[in-house]
Amino acid sequence: MQIVLIPGDGIGKEIAASVKDVSAALDCGIDWLPYEAGAEYYEKSGKLLQDGLMDAIRECGLALKGPTATPIGTGFRSINVQLRQTFQTYANLRPLHSMAGVKSRYENVDLVIFRENTEDLYRGIEYMCDSDTAHGIKMITRKASARIIRAAFEYAVANGRKRVTAVHKANIMKLTDGLFLETFNQIAKEYPQIASDSVIIDALCMKLVTDPTPFDVLVTENLYGDIISDLCAGLVGGLGFAPSANIGDTVTIYEAVHGSAPDIAGMNKANPTALLMAFAMLLNDQGMKDKAERLNNAIAAVIAEGKTVTADIGGSASTQEFTAEVIRRL
Ligand code: NAI
Repeated sequence: MQIVLIPGDGIGKEIAASVKDVSAALDCGIDWLPYEAGAEYYEKSGKLLQDGLMDAIRECGLALKGPTATPIGTGFRSINVQLRQTFQTYANLRPLHSMAGVKSRYENVDLVIFRENTEDLYRGIEYMCDSDTAHGIKMITRKASARIIRAAFEYAVANGRKRVTAVHKANIMKLTDGLFLETFNQIAKEYPQIASDSVIIDALCMKLVTDPTPFDVLVTENLYGDIISDLCAGLVGGLGFAPSANIGDTVTIYEAVHGSAPDIAGMNKANPTALLMAFAMLLNDQGMKDKAERLNNAIAAVIAEGKTVTADIGGSASTQEFTAEVIRRL
């Protein structure tokens, strides 16, 4: 099976190497197709994406992506946004659960976030009305709302989840968020076996930090989803433990939620767990459930023991030492 591998910027190369080592040890039969993309590639080539990358993703239908840096300011379009819009990977799935050995405020968090990936304020429709006034357009459509909401309910059914909660601010944004909520309420009726409810984004943030354990599957628009998924990563010990899948009808791109960590790039200190967990999601979705489980169990065992873990979780192991220990336990 051919899968595009985009190591990306910063710690990307180190954590992508970790995935390649684990994949070889698991004997998954994956032929990785490496492609360059990101700010570092731009520096040396003047291009954000290596030629052929988009075609390769289109042909394979699968990619595993490391973090790519997006310098703040004009003229540099986020690669993530570009990939999501090109391949219409409309559902950003982020499972988050507590792990033994990872210090966090709560022990039994088990949440899944479905974030709409293609519209909302992230369409990038912004313009200057005059030199002192900038306008940004929030776009919400029934079609995009329906497909993410349906994806969340289908996931709940397939994975034995009990409840789907819509997250919105329809009390203020009556048309945009109102449309999202109306669509949710209509689709929820098709799934009587799954409990459904809705919560306003600000109230949800308060509830999540007070006690996240009652929540199950959350479905929301792009901006709210971006923010609450990092908030929830914080509830389970940080961004180093948050994998994600960007799912479309023909292409799925798996990635870690964290960024390129420029402060530790090239130092062999990065925690590869999130990208390894994203790889486990890919294996699971490709019918290699046993290998996915072996990988998740090996990661959990190494972290629970706490002897060979990286600095972000209180250890002193390098990326390579952590990876070797995961492989030893596979
Ligand atoms: P960041 O996630 O790169 O780093 C935040 C903090 O977490 C840093 O202290 C970093 O060292 C630490 N950290 C992150 N991942 C880690 C890991 N795997 N192991 C150990 N420590 C880890 O966020 P930041 O600094 O806001 O962004 C840096 C760059 O990454 C920016 O250019 C941003 O645009 C980009 N970015 C890319 C993403 C993607 O491609 N999916 C997602 C988020 C940010």
